[in-house]
Amino acid sequence: MSNNRTFTMIKPDAVANGHTGAILNDIIKGGFKIKAMKYLALSKEKAGEFYEVHKGRPFYGELVDFMSSGPIVAAILEKDNAVEDFRKLIGATDPSKAEKGTIRNLYAESIGANAIHGSDSDENAKIEGDFFFTALERF
Ligand code: RTP
Ligand code: MG
Repeated sequence: MSNNRTFTMIKPDAVANGHTGAILNDIIKGGFKIKAMKYLALSKEKAGEFYEVHKGRPFYGELVDFMSSGPIVAAILEKDNAVEDFRKLIGATDPSKAEKGTIRNLYAESIGANAIHGSDSDENAKIEGDFFFTALERF
């Protein structure tokens, strides 16, 4: 499987706090090309489906409520070694542990409201991109 694409969402906290432009700028400056992008709100049902892998974890309900609480920006990104490099750019899940200068260090509020999502494998990048975009909507 190719390793040059990943999938991201700018989460409701970062969009509501006005960080969308700054985060997109950081992503582009980080060497990622935007191959598809949309601004939308997830229903509770769709957020639950997206995070199905976390069903049963104690934070699942909170996560689904949060991810359906307001608009998000979803995008497919391209760069060599995309998944790993993007996880470096966004930093640790818990913003208090995220390295200085990472997107979560700069813009996240808490482990739940942590500003941004990044796929954790090439396989999931493909699944997640396909969840949001049809072939017609991407380059
Ligand atoms: P993401 O999928 O959003 O990029 O985040 P991640 O890989 O760094 O973290 P993951 O383990 O996949 O968890 C998904 C999201 O669930 C929320 N979470 N809350 N309260 C908690 O202990 C807790 N743990 C995880 C976070 O919003 C995390 O990004
Ligand atoms: Mg994850």
